[in-house]
Amino acid sequence: MPREKPVKWGPYLSFGKDPSTTMIASWRSCEAALGPTTSSTGSKAWLEYWEHGLGETASITRVEATIGRLAGLHITRMENLVPGTVYSYRTSTYPDETHTFKTAPVPGTNTPFEFTLVGDMHARPCNDISKYFSLMSELVPGHDFFAGLGDFINDGDDPADWDAYFRDGAGYLPCHPQMNVPGNHDAGSPSKYQRYTYTWMHPYVDENKGGYYVMEYANAVIFFIDSTNAGGWQPTPGDAQYDWLARNLERYALADRWIFLLMHHQVYSTGDFGCARLMHDVYRPLCQEYHVDAVFYGHDHHYEVFWVDREASWGGTLFIVAGAGGGQGHVDHGIMGDRNGETKYIWPGRFLNVRKHGVPPETGNITPAARAFRNDSLVEATQLLGILEPSFIHARVEGDVMDLKCIGWQGQVYHHLQVKRAGAGRAFHPRSEKVLLDY
Ligand SMILES: [Fe+2]
Ligand SMILES: [Fe+2]
Repeated sequence: MPREKPVKWGPYLSFGKDPSTTMIASWRSCEAALGPTTSSTGSKAWLEYWEHGLGETASITRVEATIGRLAGLHITRMENLVPGTVYSYRTSTYPDETHTFKTAPVPGTNTPFEFTLVGDMHARPCNDISKYFSLMSELVPGHDFFAGLGDFINDGDDPADWDAYFRDGAGYLPCHPQMNVPGNHDAGSPSKYQRYTYTWMHPYVDENKGGYYVMEYANAVIFFIDSTNAGGWQPTPGDAQYDWLARNLERYALADRWIFLLMHHQVYSTGDFGCARLMHDVYRPLCQEYHVDAVFYGHDHHYEVFWVDREASWGGTLFIVAGAGGGQGHVDHGIMGDRNGETKYIWPGRFLNVRKHGVPPETGNITPAARAFRNDSLVEATQLLGILEPSFIHARVEGDVMDLKCIGWQGQVYHHLQVKRAGAGRAFHPRSEKVLLDY
């Protein structure tokens, strides 16, 4: 990888393998000429952390930064932390900045928690996504972490786009651990994938096979799936990743945990890419066998929910498109027109409620390739709401109940779904939708 002139990144946070006891803080300074682990004073770069509530009396722990694989990148790992505890920290590079973070509850416990979730931010110098970060901070100040669905970077080969991401997230990323999956834009080639894994050092199972890993957070088990399979284009999981997923679903599911799958590429959607038959063939049986609570994905740039298998005794799986993270410039308004036969479902406007509007029609000139991505019977039976507006998701889990809200750029709640855990009383009911805007 060529040397490049770094600009400031972070510090930015992510959990280690056990989110209740480990935290990774990384930052990239403008001092690459000094070497990646050296501060301006010539000493080793460090991070100091202490329990936030202890203030002046705190015993401070110092960890030395290790060498990053990107020029100027400093990486520190804080280990043996106390679960459910707020820590403060500062770095040798920016000693005047003090930030805080909170460790996760002990895995398996029922402590309530909340997180934000979005995909497809498509950061680049001329696409200002700082508003997402400030909205998430202001509207849901208590959220414990940020889950990302890929395509955060518009062109994973362009350093300027990576710089734009950290520029726009400068006020947010130092205090909110980010756990994400690779997308085709930020990781969909070997060189993009390499930069992705150099930047986000998640607890990958096998980096050569893909950027996939699992996180136990309180009473949830979250699977972060790499639908690019280590820099490729095939969205269905490779053999190693599929084996890992099935093996760990077997281990964690059908117990008293929430099971979430996060990936970039869409399974069911009436958006730009439509309903992908191969993804249906792979994921629907897994969701049915293991009673998966929700599958979140982006790639399509809108918000949409499908409550699939809702007639089953265990209550079914939510399939949720949450790819409206790139602002107005990246929401797929084009699907309100035919796009020369490429549109799978022509939306009636910026809101789609199939129960009210019916299954969107195809155009007279739809191409055979586009038609193959329609699944009308499923859309008719399961779609709840779709929205073509910039938005993010706020999820709050308390025991066996989860509130899911789709929040827009004016702070409006477009959709508020309250559901029970699959197998723990989950059942579709009109009152499951606390708020539904569908002009
Ligand atoms: Fe995207
Ligand atoms: Fe994508």
